[in-house]
Amino acid sequence: MRPQPRDEVQMIWIKMSQKKKFLILLLICTVSLLLHNGGHLSWTIDHFRCATLRSPIAPGLKPKHTNIVFLKTHKTASSTLQNILFRFAERNNLTMALPKPNCGHQFCYPQVFSSHFVHPHTLPPNMITSHMRFNKTALQRLMPNDTIYITILREPASMFESLFTYYSRHSGSFRRVPNGSLETFLADPLQYYRPEEADSMYARNTLTFDLGGNKDRPASDVAYAQAFVADVEKTFSLVMISEYFDESLVLLRHLLSWNLDDIVYVKLNMRVESSKKSLSPSLPAKIRSWNSLDAYLYDYFNASLWVKLSALGLDCVAKEVDLIRQAQERLTKSCFGGQMPVPRSASEIRNKDLRPWQPSEKVGIIGYDLPVNISHEAKELCLKSIMPEITYTQKLLHSQLLRHHQILLSRTSQKSNIPQQPMRTTLSRHSQVHRSQPPPSNAQSPGSTTKSKFTPNQGEGISKSGPKQSNTNAL
Ligand SMILES: *[C@@H]1O[C@H](CO)[C@@H](O)[C@H](O)[C@H]1NC(C)=O
Ligand SMILES: *[C@@H]1O[C@H](CO)[C@@H](O)[C@H](O)[C@H]1NC(C)=O
Ligand SMILES: *[C@@H]1O[C@H](CO)[C@@H](O)[C@H](O)[C@H]1NC(C)=O
Ligand SMILES: *[C@@H]1O[C@H](CO)[C@@H](O)[C@H](O)[C@H]1NC(C)=O
Ligand SMILES: *[C@@H]1O[C@H](CO)[C@@H](O)[C@H](O)[C@H]1NC(C)=O
Ligand SMILES: *[C@@H]1O[C@H](CO)[C@@H](O)[C@H](O)[C@H]1NC(C)=O
Repeated sequence: MRPQPRDEVQMIWIKMSQKKKFLILLLICTVSLLLHNGGHLSWTIDHFRCATLRSPIAPGLKPKHTNIVFLKTHKTASSTLQNILFRFAERNNLTMALPKPNCGHQFCYPQVFSSHFVHPHTLPPNMITSHMRFNKTALQRLMPNDTIYITILREPASMFESLFTYYSRHSGSFRRVPNGSLETFLADPLQYYRPEEADSMYARNTLTFDLGGNKDRPASDVAYAQAFVADVEKTFSLVMISEYFDESLVLLRHLLSWNLDDIVYVKLNMRVESSKKSLSPSLPAKIRSWNSLDAYLYDYFNASLWVKLSALGLDCVAKEVDLIRQAQERLTKSCFGGQMPVPRSASEIRNKDLRPWQPSEKVGIIGYDLPVNISHEAKELCLKSIMPEITYTQKLLHSQLLRHHQILLSRTSQKSNIPQQPMRTTLSRHSQVHRSQPPPSNAQSPGSTTKSKFTPNQGEGISKSGPKQSNTNAL
């Protein structure tokens, strides 16, 4: 009888020497290892692993995080992120803590932040994003205890060149430089720089200053730089990097469990090419040595950004960055009639709300105008996406004051008309607001002495932190 094929294999195996058996086993192991780490199989595994990354909806099933401190730094693409946060807050009826009118559109910068700078009708807040000099203690008291802290840094050489141009007229340190030459300034900075002068923070270690640190600590004090970085790392769950803005957004989206739609943006506040200078080769080193604390911060957090990106998987990150850019292009095209927008100088922009702030006639800050024939549906999103910071801040403040006023009115009318009903049940803003009727004074409701006195910054009803709030203290 002929042996079955299987038996033949068995016979061969039995006849083989130990050494040959060992070599064959080794071969099998190697091939299977290669399959798992190299070729096709690994692609399938990656694809599976990236499935949550690639999905345009929130990664995981966690609720979206809504309580955020974004420390907005200068000249770092921070306005773009602020715009994203403004739109998210508006869309979700969240409360954005905004500056009091006498602080301008910033929290009385460059003073150290204090809760006194916050408009009382924008409390209690979910988010805070306007320029400030960081004060951790004050913010921790102001914000909900599950607040996530984020900030953004930019490479010191290009950042300093940008600051030098942008604040050439504002900062005394820069005004003093003959011919406005960056080279001249860097040849001997101490000749022009006055640490105690107003606006000196734009001329040295601006990032460190914004983060609440001491911008004038000498470069030799390495211990200070290390301790400062450690403190920043302890407080901030994510330090974004301007040069890798979209990659940083990927990390942000995961940290907050937001959707892809929540982070779509149009680039804002860029200078016209003609006012950008390319740095001569010796300047970056000089800038880094003059801004040594910022350079230390940047290098540290750029490295830690890449550690975080690697942990997500660089290939997966690249795929998600691609999705972000596609969504960004779709938004931009829907706003500007199928073409990429033409950047305009402020004077060319018809819609006054869309004119960006001009620091000086020397610097051309680019803005955008919307086409006149834009569709009605696209208009609101487009308008908000390209609205400059100061205009948007004013609009947000206006709508929050209105909301605050309506809540106040509905409470007082509830109090006098239906005194038995417990207060602060729902936000029935529309049905029970009687605008024409003046709010009754406290004296008119003598029976309701308990819980009746309303204080302006009480405002629990304003915050929608209830349903959307998550208790994820991610990272
Ligand atoms: C926000 O408030 C408006 C007006 O009160 C309401 O119509 C809308 O449904 C709310 N949106 C969300 C997401 O809560
Ligand atoms: C930061 O805020 C806290 C609390 O409001 C305040 O006591 C402290 O003086 C502030 N820090 C600085 C440096 O102003
Ligand atoms: C956060 O605040 C809530 C109530 O305000 C409290 O119940 C909770 O224990 C606090 N959580 C932490 C981590 O402090
Ligand atoms: C400033 O510019 C003028 C004319 O362009 C030139 O003559 C002068 O040498 C410059 N000064 C310095 C300090 O570079
Ligand atoms: C940021 O860090 C990455 C990874 O270490 C490095 O490749 C890159 O050159 C750094 N970028 C800058 C602008 O220093
Ligand atoms: C709007 O006008 C531009 C230029 O006039 C035109 O190219 C575009 O197709 C128009 N878009 C719509 C939606 O009508």
